[in-house]
Amino acid sequence: MNVLVTGGAGFIGSHFILHALEEDSSITIVNVDRLTYAADLSYLQEVEKDGRYLFVQADICDHDKMLQLVYDHHIEAIVNFAAESHVDRSIQDSAPFLRTNITGTHSLLEVARKCGGIRYVQISTDEVYGSLSFDDLRLFTEQSVLQPNNPYSASKAGADLLVRSYYETHGIPVNITRCSNNYGPHQHGEKLLPTLIQRSSRQLSLPIYGDGKNIRDWLYVKDHVRAILLVLQKGKIGEVYNIGGTNEWTNNEVAKHVLDYFGLPHSNISYVSDRLGHDQRYAIDATKIQQQLGWQPQTTFAQGLVETIEWYLERGDKS
Ligand SMILES: NC(=O)c1ccc[n+]([C@@H]2O[C@H](COP(=O)([O-])OP(=O)(O)OC[C@H]3O[C@@H](n4cnc5c(N)ncnc54)[C@H](O)[C@@H]3O)[C@@H](O)[C@H]2O)c1
Repeated sequence: MNVLVTGGAGFIGSHFILHALEEDSSITIVNVDRLTYAADLSYLQEVEKDGRYLFVQADICDHDKMLQLVYDHHIEAIVNFAAESHVDRSIQDSAPFLRTNITGTHSLLEVARKCGGIRYVQISTDEVYGSLSFDDLRLFTEQSVLQPNNPYSASKAGADLLVRSYYETHGIPVNITRCSNNYGPHQHGEKLLPTLIQRSSRQLSLPIYGDGKNIRDWLYVKDHVRAILLVLQKGKIGEVYNIGGTNEWTNNEVAKHVLDYFGLPHSNISYVSDRLGHDQRYAIDATKIQQQLGWQPQTTFAQGLVETIEWYLERGDKS
């Protein structure tokens, strides 16, 4: 299968490319990335010379360029990771989020429509479901209502609705995956866990929003990309798949795990003004992908956290 991967120089896309090339010898990948501030191609050095891999710097909003790439490389599937992905930035300036996350997705869906029959997998997020309250023990299922609370998640929800509409209206063979918070090597330094690790390694205080009680479900990135490849290979057309780790922690607990690794006191946590519209709790029910596609997370939080911290320490501080 010839696959166009977008946003493959980012965190999750780069892990997907390495996993897919390793796992499936019949796959070839064209990695299209605009190379924004969030991109870093160094993680893909080991496949640069692989004849099944090609990198092209381009913008997914450039529809003609995407169309040309699909024709030139006989693309059979698109997996769309490309996005503006940092909630804090979307609160400061939402325009780039609407452009890439919505217009960019539309540009790719139009390519799929014009080329007919191209498989399309949209990488979405649990944030499109909005927030559960602390005393609400439910989990988000694929049937949960989309109730995004910040411009990032609203742009991702808008993209999901476009993908659904291209399935219903044009019969494009789509899937949408909605995953919880990822962690692992090669995440941009602005995100929570890399910030905690890099600051702890310099014995600096750890900035935590509000009272630190917000809850997230954490999934190791390598478990996420295994799920995405399964969806691409075996997903039932038109279906949404939730992906999660059943691994909920408050931000305080995550910070304390990192401090414990470095042997630093929990008093190094320093509370800062809360994020606007900060969602209280995300929690994912991943039963469907477990039952339909036989996926299970394989990495415990304890293992994944140590691997992640060690990766950042070996790489040195590039934040
Ligand atoms: N990080 C998470 O915890 C998480 C969880 C669930 C879902 N997701 C989703 O997974 C996808 C990947 O997330 P990530 O954390 O790897 O993001 P990231 O910010 O690390 O990477 C995004 C990549 O997209 C590229 N890009 C941005 N705009 C582009 C454009 N217009 N054209 C081409 N490339 C462009 C960037 O250069 C970057 O390499 C996103 O769609 C995100 O919404 C992320």
